[in-house]
Amino acid sequence: MTDNKIATVAVLGTGVLGAQIAFQTAYRGFPVTAYDISDEALEGARERFARLGHTYAAEVEGATPATIEAAQARLHLTTDLAAAAQADLVIEAVPEVLDLKRSTFEKLGALAPASTIFATNSSTLLPSQIGDASGRPDRFLALHFANRVWQFNTAEVMGTAETDPAVFDEVVRFAADIGMVPIELHKEKAGYVLNSLLVPLLNSAIALAAGGYAEVDDIDRTWRIATGAPLGPLQILDIIGLTTPYNILTHGSGADAKLAEWLKENYIDKGLLGVATGQGFYSYA
Ligand SMILES: NC(=O)c1ccc[n+]([C@@H]2O[C@H](COP(=O)([O-])OP(=O)(O)OC[C@H]3O[C@@H](n4cnc5c(N)ncnc54)[C@H](O)[C@@H]3O)[C@@H](O)[C@H]2O)c1
Repeated sequence: MTDNKIATVAVLGTGVLGAQIAFQTAYRGFPVTAYDISDEALEGARERFARLGHTYAAEVEGATPATIEAAQARLHLTTDLAAAAQADLVIEAVPEVLDLKRSTFEKLGALAPASTIFATNSSTLLPSQIGDASGRPDRFLALHFANRVWQFNTAEVMGTAETDPAVFDEVVRFAADIGMVPIELHKEKAGYVLNSLLVPLLNSAIALAAGGYAEVDDIDRTWRIATGAPLGPLQILDIIGLTTPYNILTHGSGADAKLAEWLKENYIDKGLLGVATGQGFYSYA
């Protein structure tokens, strides 16, 4: 571990990403307070942590029953926001709703010591849309993880014009401490680096398939062979699940809305959502 001031961490929201961030952070040796809104949600968190333990055992090099048990022991679940607010770093992973994120940071700002750093894991909102609600925009930034954090271990760090550079650097060091590869953004960018690259590629692949320009397999093969990438864009879409690109396209231009309609008619309405349902652009046994 590097010489970092962040020693304790809280994660708000224990859904898909929150549970992964909390588990990974605990796995790397930090005590973690995992906060959610109800006992029912925390029951769900317990199940997610148990499943993550099995996944780490199977997929993470060097994971043993002892290291996984130690990670589980560092996780403390609570519905008390005041308890979560005591951490050195609070990472927010609540649903992607601006008002909800703002009200969460407003409450947190009133409860946390002045030294606490706040980070949002938001995929589509900019930190400058949220930071002022916390009452400490200088200690506020985005720390954005990718789904399956133990495998796809980028952590994009993106501040606002108001973020203290020392806070930014501390969060970059923390990201490395928990086994992520920190990706530093010098200014705000919707979609960060990853989705700024990925979303246009995926949308172009959908447009090629929807327009009947080439077969699904040939679109992917072209990308794999010509760039050396392990997966083609339509294979990636099947892994993400087709509902997410559908939702993104419905918010886009007129051409995007037509692609959304095509996805809906040919895949979503038929329950063909990708790997999770056994069929999307490809069939899965
Ligand atoms: N799912 C992904 O692949 C992914 C990837 C990167 C970033 N993100 C971002 O992470 C955030 C969470 O996404 P997710 O997919 O984990 O969502 P999710 O729906 O799986 O989980 C959200 C969790 O927040 C809890 N919650 C609801 N209201 C709350 C509140 N007021 N305070 C605290 N917790 C509350 C819910 O009970 C639930 O456990 C979003 O901002 C999303 O953009 C998601």
